[in-house]
Amino acid sequence: MRRPFIAGNWKMNLNRASAVALAEGVAKAAESVQGVDLAVCPPSCYLDAVGRAISGSKVLLGAQNMYHEPAGAFTGELSAAMLRDLGCTYVILGHSERRHILGETDAAINKKVHAALSAELIPIVCVGELLSEREAGQTLAVIRRQFEGSLAGLSAEQMATVVLAYEPVWAIGTGKVATPQQAEEVHLALRKLIEQRYNGSIAGSVRLQYGGSVKPDNAAELLHQPDIDGALVGGASLRADQFLGIVAGAV
Ligand code: PGA
Repeated sequence: MRRPFIAGNWKMNLNRASAVALAEGVAKAAESVQGVDLAVCPPSCYLDAVGRAISGSKVLLGAQNMYHEPAGAFTGELSAAMLRDLGCTYVILGHSERRHILGETDAAINKKVHAALSAELIPIVCVGELLSEREAGQTLAVIRRQFEGSLAGLSAEQMATVVLAYEPVWAIGTGKVATPQQAEEVHLALRKLIEQRYNGSIAGSVRLQYGGSVKPDNAAELLHQPDIDGALVGGASLRADQFLGIVAGAV
């Protein structure tokens, strides 16, 4: 069975003191949580401090991005090994803000996925369509293109460790959540893509998160869809009570 996985993407928010306080609050509240994997993904400058604040708790650490090269003259970038050194278990790759604001391509994301896996970081790979693409009936074609491009060349064993997050761009930070049916349709399509390329057993084991305006009051319905195994949470992950309210919807 797939274990639910809820991750908080703090994006470019908070300062050192508030990041540590939030991490401590999440770690404490997580003590009573059973059967759900949890992660927080702070800004990279606070990974160290947040890692210390959650150390020994059920909450694991994730980064929001990395570069694919192992080392060298890449000003401003962080490697997978550096993230491992900071205590990261996960790294979010191909978030829509990186695709659409920072111009990341599927080919660039694919290199990062391979580098993360080589360093034993678990990538949380994001895919999702723009509103215009949904309205043009292209949602599943966009998802397929991003799946094929971002996850090219992965062995079955590597695919089984990857987490995929379906995040419709029109639902991120907008308060417009996909209906459980809209989300489930895409999750099922993603699982079929995995099955076609690998097999039913790999498809059945990969965890698929939904992301986009997940809140405590809509989480349970989304998380109880058969192919939705967790959530990647932005805004609501900035408050421990809201984040844990979403986690409660997974059990
Ligand atoms: P949101 O962000 O929950 O604020 O919509 C989700 C995400 O970008 O991962």
